[in-house]
Formats: sequence, C-alpha cells, structure tokens
Amino acid sequence: MKIIHSIEELRAWRATVGTVAFVPTMGNLHAGHMTLIDAARKEAEHIVVSIFVNRLQFGQGEDFEVYPRTLEQDAALIAAQGGVDVIFAPDEKVLYPKVIQQYQVEPPAIQDELCGAFRPGHFRGVATVVTKLFNIVQPNVACFGKKDYQQLFVIKSMVEDLNQPVKIVSVDTGRAADGLALSSRNGYLSAAHKLEATRIYHHLSRMKAAIEAGERDYERLSAETTGDLLARGWVSVDYVEMRNALTLKPAAVTDHQLVILIAARLGHTRLIDNIEISL
Ligand code: PAF
Repeated sequence: MKIIHSIEELRAWRATVGTVAFVPTMGNLHAGHMTLIDAARKEAEHIVVSIFVNRLQFGQGEDFEVYPRTLEQDAALIAAQGGVDVIFAPDEKVLYPKVIQQYQVEPPAIQDELCGAFRPGHFRGVATVVTKLFNIVQPNVACFGKKDYQQLFVIKSMVEDLNQPVKIVSVDTGRAADGLALSSRNGYLSAAHKLEATRIYHHLSRMKAAIEAGERDYERLSAETTGDLLARGWVSVDYVEMRNALTLKPAAVTDHQLVILIAARLGHTRLIDNIEISL
C-alpha cells in the first residue's frame, strides 16, 4: 500500500492501473469507513482511499481546527483491513494552492435545506472537493455512506447533472451494537453522552415502526421526538424530518419510499442520523 501526497504521483500511478473504486474520507477512520472499503472491494480491481480535512465544507465556529488528523493511525487501520492500493493524503496547499478556490460547484436549492440550513456553504464545499478528487483520482466507482444521506443525494445528483463518469455506490450506515451510527464526531462525546446519543436511533426506529403500522401524522411524530430530546437535555434539535427517499422533498402521505432524518446537538457535538422506510 502506497501513501501518496502529490497529484502528479497519484496521476502517474492511476495511468498504470485498470478499474479503481474510491473512498473519499476526512480521516480519523473507524469501523464505518471499513464498511465503505469492503463495499469498494467488490466494485473494482484497485482501491484508493483519500484522507483530507476539507476546510471548504466547515462553517465559521465549526470544528475544522480541532478535527482529528490521525494519518498514521488511519494508515495502520487501512493496512490491517487490507486490499487498499493507495492512500491519497494531500496537504491543503496541494488541493488549494491559491488558498481561495475560485471555481466551486454550486449545488441546487437542496443545499439550503436540512443540514444546509444550519451549515451554509457546507454542500458547496463537499461538491467542490469531491469533484476535485474525482478529477484527480479518476475512479470508476466511488463509495459514500448513507449516514450522510443529504451528502449522498447531493453527490448522486451532481454526478448525474455534470455527467461525471463515476458510479456512486451507497453504503448502509455502520452502527455500534446499541444502534449508535458510527461517526468520527462520536469521539467528542463523553461516556454518558455516548449512551444518551443512542436515543436518536431509538427514536428513528420508533417513528419507523409507527409509520409502518399506518401512522401518517408526520408532524406529530417529529414534534414528539423533538420534545423528548429537549426534555432529556439535548441542547438543540435542528430538525426531525420525513422526506421522500428518492427526491428528498418533504414526504407526502402517498409516498412509498421515505427517509426520516434527524440532526441534534448533544453537549457540543452535532449528531446526524437517518432511517429508510419502504411502504
Ligand atoms: O463524508 C466525508 O467524510 C466528507 O464530506 C467527504 C465526502 C470526504 C468530502 O470531504
């Protein structure tokens, strides 16, 4: 396994190999990322994992400065997992040599909804860095986790709209035994908050069961969840929303493919999760 830091070296390697599956990450890897690598293994002859903490997708006051940079530990985890050919870990000045990225990829209105309403510019930053990484790595396939459901939606529609020649593979959310969605940001949680954080999955499962049993008052379900989280000391609930899983538009009672999405803040940590429903 090679660790490559420069675009030139990555391109030179890419020119010598066949099909490539790509797993873009910001590092600080955990078992959830390993499920992305496992999915990638089924898709192509070679695998590239990128590790890059992308300043463009962090807003003011967010955790860009403190986001854990753990390249050595990440490389050891990837090596133990096996099957990855290249870790692409560029410095900031390699991807953003002019400091300010002048040409950016502007997603449509969905970028201002759900997480985008609370993180202005976030999805522009994601779409821009993913496009740059696609241009550099030139993968045949790229794997993204469903935990970041809106990100996955933005990337799928970007690839379609811009005719980027990359097949996007959606990978189910990795969960701890108690249901907590695996996330690098779980590392910010105290032991007590880690236990409390499982309440998100508990509510998602509860709402899913209710909808499967015929409940269609989505506003009531959402308000119950918000009320319970706030009563238990969660700092804020950004949203609890039922959406059409295919379009991410607000769910209509006649929709058959739904997704319930939650974002809420526990202590200083903002957690997101979601669950799909097929009726
Ligand atoms: O999901 C992530 O880790 C990031 O948003 C991504 C896709 C690597 C872009 O920086």
